[in-house]
Amino acid sequence: MSALDDEKYEKHREAGEILAEVRDEAAEKVEVGASHLEIAEWAEDRIRELGGEPAFPVNISIDEEAAHATPSVDDESTFGEEMVNLDIGVHVDGWLADTAVTVDLSGNPELAEASEQALEAALDVVEAGVSTGDIGAEVEDVIEGYGFNPVVNLTGHGLGHWEQHTSPNIPNRAVSQGATLEAGDVVAIEPFATDGSGKVKEGSEEEIYALEREASVRNRQARQALEQIVDEFKTLPFATRWLETSRAEMALRRLEQNGVVHGYPVLKEQEGYLVSQKEHTVIVTEDGCEVTTRSR
Ligand code: CO
Repeated sequence: MSALDDEKYEKHREAGEILAEVRDEAAEKVEVGASHLEIAEWAEDRIRELGGEPAFPVNISIDEEAAHATPSVDDESTFGEEMVNLDIGVHVDGWLADTAVTVDLSGNPELAEASEQALEAALDVVEAGVSTGDIGAEVEDVIEGYGFNPVVNLTGHGLGHWEQHTSPNIPNRAVSQGATLEAGDVVAIEPFATDGSGKVKEGSEEEIYALEREASVRNRQARQALEQIVDEFKTLPFATRWLETSRAEMALRRLEQNGVVHGYPVLKEQEGYLVSQKEHTVIVTEDGCEVTTRSR
């Protein structure tokens, strides 16, 4: 383990500080009639203004959607009386922070509260030596105590250098074969609560992609897109709307067919059910954890 004052932890903290501010300001902007695309772009621009870079496209998930939804380039969606989850990431030189919050416009505050309280209970048990299974047990207990289900096929995760998802996974239910957290681990903990079954499935929409492997491509737009991806996003997820090349959708289809990038389909519960989410990034310490994304 490296000392917690190493430069990499300073960058994780800086990313977390920027992110906390942007998350709280973005959440304030979510109201009935506001534009998804305007809020996503506002948040991504604000991250850059504050000295970070978006670690992935701002995710805006509505009602049964749980993850991987982001506005398209010409998206005209506005918020209705819905459950809105914002999941936002920042990196500073590839060192990440990841956070999420639910803004409930649907009149189901208990569901939003369930994932918030589950996260607080999880954070209370985090310290060096704890099993990720015990963290999952806290999440499950709290959410079930509200009469809801945790989403069990979505998990928290480690944050690596230029890697949004590394081991260990942090489950949202009790598991017997958990990993053991060590001081210095940087992990994102993200309980999801739902009034549905607790299992999300892949939908057909895809707006988020990430590099799989570098390869030479002949098509001009695909090549331009790949250059920008390798240069700017590396292995971090990006949105179709971030690409500067003309015919970006066609370029991405080609890159996906050639196995150069992979897409992240929107993950959702069954229609008619709702999902809430709350997430913080922490640095694990000997006797607890430091939450990098806490509101200041
Ligand atoms: Co996350």
